[in-house]
Amino acid sequence: EDPSLPKAEKIKLDETDPAKIKLGNGQDVKGTRVRVFGRVHRERRQKTNMFITLKDGYGFMQVILTGKLAATYDALTLTRETSMEILGELREVPQGAHAPNGRELHADYYRIHPGWHAAGGDDAITNRVSKDTEHATLLDLRHLTLRGETASKVMIVRDAVEYAFNVVYRELRLRKVSPPALVQTMVEGGATLFGLPYYNEEAFLTQSSQLYLETCLASMGDVYCIEKSFRAEKSLTRRHLAEYTHIEAELDFIHFGDLLDHLELVMCRVLEVAMADPTIKQYIMELNPEFQMPERPFKRMRYSEAIDWLVEHGIPNEEGEPHKFGDDIAEAAERKMTDAINRPIFLTHFPVEIKAFYMLKDKDDPRVTHSVDCLMPGVGEIVGGSMRIDQYDELLVAFARQEIDPSSYYWYTDQRKYGSSPHGGYGLGLERFLAWLCKQHTVRDCCLYPRYFGRCKP
Ligand code: 4AD
Repeated sequence: EDPSLPKAEKIKLDETDPAKIKLGNGQDVKGTRVRVFGRVHRERRQKTNMFITLKDGYGFMQVILTGKLAATYDALTLTRETSMEILGELREVPQGAHAPNGRELHADYYRIHPGWHAAGGDDAITNRVSKDTEHATLLDLRHLTLRGETASKVMIVRDAVEYAFNVVYRELRLRKVSPPALVQTMVEGGATLFGLPYYNEEAFLTQSSQLYLETCLASMGDVYCIEKSFRAEKSLTRRHLAEYTHIEAELDFIHFGDLLDHLELVMCRVLEVAMADPTIKQYIMELNPEFQMPERPFKRMRYSEAIDWLVEHGIPNEEGEPHKFGDDIAEAAERKMTDAINRPIFLTHFPVEIKAFYMLKDKDDPRVTHSVDCLMPGVGEIVGGSMRIDQYDELLVAFARQEIDPSSYYWYTDQRKYGSSPHGGYGLGLERFLAWLCKQHTVRDCCLYPRYFGRCKP
């Protein structure tokens, strides 16, 4: 390190944290000498020079080693993912050349501290995870896959989207609560419950926080939560996880139309807030170049119209027969329809028999409920919501119809005893929202460490 050179500026993340040096910042410091830290994302030699793309999770920086610096043992044996400390002058890239943020660091000194080298040879990261590696192996090596450009962009977009939901709910005056994960009631049917011994009792991992959110309305007004939900799904599909992040909201004194309007507003506003960050917008457009803001209002389609559509288009039900009223629309059929229509759809008014016990019947047609699924091209259902039965007697009839013993739901039925109200809400699967937004084939690539049938590692 040459002490006669100008003192190196640190590129700061912000004024309050001068110790942190981030590669994405400091676009305007061309011409200054800086000290950066990061890992080798890519390296390439050109004659006697060496070009390194350094990354630190905040951005990328092109670094040039010239002369002696490119000829050291460390430089000649440099492996990807090696961590480096580099000093040099930031310069504009020459005309016609491209580099992140249009700048490059001309190094005059670098250091690879003890333990900072990344393995090479057979153990090199490029030999362990590559484009040709099988998806299952990539998931076993998720801790390394996460370092890749696609996975890291998806995770960074995920952070921004989750944050945007918080921002938008604040704007709409919803309050955040944190319901329990360990419960003794089910919400979405016994078939997907994960049970576990709980001291001397039986408990389950929650399938949805909805019932708990409903209990908050009276004291807190409209509420939401962002929590994990758990489903013991036994099928391997590209959109089912055993553990997923569930964004749920519950709104008081509303009608069904209000619920749909709110949902549309939240989804569009979340996209606006997230895309307002240029890095996030750039990542989304790189992952999903055809992305367009959804047109409002979303297409609204009744379940019965969807059945007609499926019949007209010759898409059979699970038994291979033409769809009829009362059929559950299976994943494949739902996706075919959504992809063909190719825009967000609010599918509403599902029959009572195929929906959860708590859903309110439509007074004008008691065969159906005030329920909604939001379907997105490429993924299908990303949101499920409804108005809730708000009358005590009606709720008990609904429990009986689905042969659920209401005694353990006393805290839920009590809501209808002490000042009930017309209310409704929904749950949005964050991984499914991201699979749509970032055009990922499967929700498994939209969570940090996916859990699904047959996988609980790493
Ligand atoms: O339609 P679901 O089952 O609705 C509920 O749980 C309601 N109680 C929510 C509420 O009204 N508060 O699930 C809601 C959403 C689905 O649309 C889907 O996006 C996601 O949760 N989801 C899953 N995501 C990944 N893996 C799974 N196994 C999922 N199951 C549901």
